[in-house]
Amino acid sequence: MSTVSLDVHLTPEQLAAALRSDVLQGLADSPKWLPPKWFYDSRGSELFDEITRLPEYYPTRTERELLRRSAGEIAMVSGADTLVELGSGSSEKTRLLLGAMRDAGHLRRYVPQDVSVSALGGAVEQIGAEFPGVEVLGVVGDFTGTLEALPGGRKRMIAFLGGTLGNFVRSERADFLGEVAKVLASGEKLLLGVGLVTDPAVLVPAYDDAAGVTAEFNRNVLRVVNRELGADFAPECFEHVALWDSVNEWIEMRLRARTAMTVTVADLGLTVDFEAGEEMRTEVSAKFRLPGIEGELDEAGFDVVGQWVDERRRFALVLGERR
Ligand code: AVJ
Repeated sequence: MSTVSLDVHLTPEQLAAALRSDVLQGLADSPKWLPPKWFYDSRGSELFDEITRLPEYYPTRTERELLRRSAGEIAMVSGADTLVELGSGSSEKTRLLLGAMRDAGHLRRYVPQDVSVSALGGAVEQIGAEFPGVEVLGVVGDFTGTLEALPGGRKRMIAFLGGTLGNFVRSERADFLGEVAKVLASGEKLLLGVGLVTDPAVLVPAYDDAAGVTAEFNRNVLRVVNRELGADFAPECFEHVALWDSVNEWIEMRLRARTAMTVTVADLGLTVDFEAGEEMRTEVSAKFRLPGIEGELDEAGFDVVGQWVDERRRFALVLGERR
């Protein structure tokens, strides 16, 4: 028998307040921006799932292949009995890790975290059924809340997969890795899945696919703001832009106003002007070099005890151990 439960550390009210604050800040700034976390309502999550199956979007399938090949080794090296997964979504790739941890004879507990109750509720039930005897404790919340509420233990591994670390710029990553280091005891692990710097001819199409799914995903943030805050963005009046910033080594997604327009955000009593051609940043997806990510882990208090890279060197799994 398995124990399955769901803890809510982030109420719909808190989530709404966070959105209001982000939109207020981002639309008042110059240049304007909106944070990528608001892409993921149910439609946005579906669009993202669709992105992961596009021929151009290699990160998901590359990471899955890497996990398929290396999960046994990761489970062994980690010696972990608890897997905490940040931003678990549908927990699809995690099954590979959980299976390997079970086969290594260590697995006791799985703690998936996500902001989406709907994604998490289903995943928690399913994993509970698939891994009898494993305690599954779903946490609805953001990364910070989850780290604060982390169940105790001495053999935990926190997994942050999919390349989502790349949504943070360098200083945010330092803060985040510091938070993780703070909650872990010496010897506990952090497993990162990160996209590597590769050919822009490969990178850019991954964020600007021929079928236009990423463009719809990008515009979805406007639909979320319309619905949640009574705004009147016309999503089709914004063009999808994806570019490789070779100085910062990140992909940047933007929405470019096709014409001059005025947008109102009723719930915030806000009126915002866009010039024709004005670009608003909606996402940064940083790519890494191995020495760079090792350095960042080291600065945060982790030793790198394992790394796995695909043949084409586009994606890496990096295992850090808390000193
Ligand atoms: C979920 C943040 C890892 O940056 O590749 C995919 C999101 N944005 N296509 C990424 C995304 C556009 C994705 N992460």
